Amino acid sequence: MKILMVSSEAVPYAKTGGLADAVSALSISLAKLGHDVRIVIPRYYPIDRSSLTLLPDAMGTPMGGGIEEWSAVYTTNMPGADKKNPVKVYFIDHEIFFGRDGIYGSPVESDFIDNSRRYIFFCKAAFQLCRKIKWYPDVLHAHDWPAAVAPVYLKFAERVSGIKGEFENTISILTIHNLGYQGIYHKDNFDYAGLGWDVFYNAGFEDWSMLNMLKAGLYSADKINTVSPNYAEETKHEAHGFRLDGVLRYRSADYQGILNGIDDVVWNPEKDTYIPENYSVKNMEGKAKAKEALQKEFGLPMDSNVPVIGIVTRLTDQKGVGELFGPTYGSAWSICRDMDVQMVILGSGEHWCESEISSLASRLSNFKAKIGYSEKLSHLIEAGADFFLMPSRYEPCGLNQMYSLAYGTLPIVRSTGGLVDTVENFNEDTGEGTGFMFEQLNPSSIYNTVGWAVWAWYNRRDDITKMQKRGMTKDFTWESSALKYVEMYNDTFKALGIKVKA
Ligand code: ADP
Ligand code: GLC
Repeated sequence: MKILMVSSEAVPYAKTGGLADAVSALSISLAKLGHDVRIVIPRYYPIDRSSLTLLPDAMGTPMGGGIEEWSAVYTTNMPGADKKNPVKVYFIDHEIFFGRDGIYGSPVESDFIDNSRRYIFFCKAAFQLCRKIKWYPDVLHAHDWPAAVAPVYLKFAERVSGIKGEFENTISILTIHNLGYQGIYHKDNFDYAGLGWDVFYNAGFEDWSMLNMLKAGLYSADKINTVSPNYAEETKHEAHGFRLDGVLRYRSADYQGILNGIDDVVWNPEKDTYIPENYSVKNMEGKAKAKEALQKEFGLPMDSNVPVIGIVTRLTDQKGVGELFGPTYGSAWSICRDMDVQMVILGSGEHWCESEISSLASRLSNFKAKIGYSEKLSHLIEAGADFFLMPSRYEPCGLNQMYSLAYGTLPIVRSTGGLVDTVENFNEDTGEGTGFMFEQLNPSSIYNTVGWAVWAWYNRRDDITKMQKRGMTKDFTWESSALKYVEMYNDTFKALGIKVKA
């Protein structure tokens, strides 16, 4: 199959969260199965053009108000993919839309005012790219709101008035990585899409008189999915539906959850190049070394007996940071004050939270923080910590708890979304489980569950060791997820009466 991934992020080029990991790893796995997978992303400023190949001729993209003349396309092969079956990555270069610092925003403008135009243009440019390289995909696979208008263009433009031999046998898939971000903007921006105002209503863009890009994609894509089975169920209900639960119930016959995998080259203690010494379930010595290195890195006493609780996260409401770090009531403070633990956090995001964390670090000797983004440190935390805390408000899949399991670091998580599909709660009677879970998101639940884990650390060390080993042998590879995506593509071909390709 020829598969085009349309995404605003892909590692190693542009990443704000798990979307970037998921898109690249899924693409690599699909290519390993023999498919011709290509990815298109914007060429953001920090992506160095000198290492890419420029395709000849600038590309014109017809938009509502005329033609966007000056877009160039760069290309390269995705590192980590099989040499025999490479994953090609295309970068849409457009100075006005993408020639600036930041992906969706900057420190002074958290959501760029022209984001709807930037990503509507990007979606349209994906089609122009195919024309330019004369390669027409069987599957147009869009990810999250920035790519959600691509399935709309397919259904309401290309299939209606497209040129024969181009996209008439292309199916569309939209994957929700996060329903909390929908791309809602003033409807005046819709003219720019050049689709006609009937499509504004027929494709489901209309949202209380605003323009909702994700909603239109959910209505228009041939099939939709999200990144864990449990989140697929949750999002059909009001509590987790972010006002789109009705749309998802309406599309429930075409909507499913497919669990993300983890990249077992990058996130594997046996191969990890960021940690002092590799280790495996058979020989855990490297984990003890990683713990020492982590304590040293954060300026903590190098004590192997005290449990280290690690956190790596975007500092945003989704991740439960209010309940963890909220001034006057956050649980991190009381955990570090009352328990014999060390806590380390790596994260960046909302300003109030960054400053609250810095203030905590200045008051508590066993709480250390690095504000910022660091791939290396995130690996060291996953390897060196004993527990990994993720009190998410909602979690479509969550990658960090799977990384933790692979590194023998026991996750302490709220039972929501993909965390339910991946972590098994500790059973004190049988010693079974792979982590510690709680239901309600409030400071005392976090406090109590961390307390339970710390108690188990000091009093049930045998169970802890068994849980670590159990977690390390779980199979979260992308191969099985990629096969499920292929199945979904094939079901879609069948449903649309298109000859099945593989
Ligand atoms: P989300 O995509 O909602 O942020 P995930 O758990 O799916 O959550 O993925 C988060 C990814 O981003 C992980 O790979 C995690 O290690 C990484 N990450 C988040 N914050 C940081 C940071 N400050 N430094 C390094 N990596 C980070
Ligand atoms: C999103 C979600 C996260 C998921 C990731 C990759 O950012 O918040 O739970 O793991 O996408 O699909």
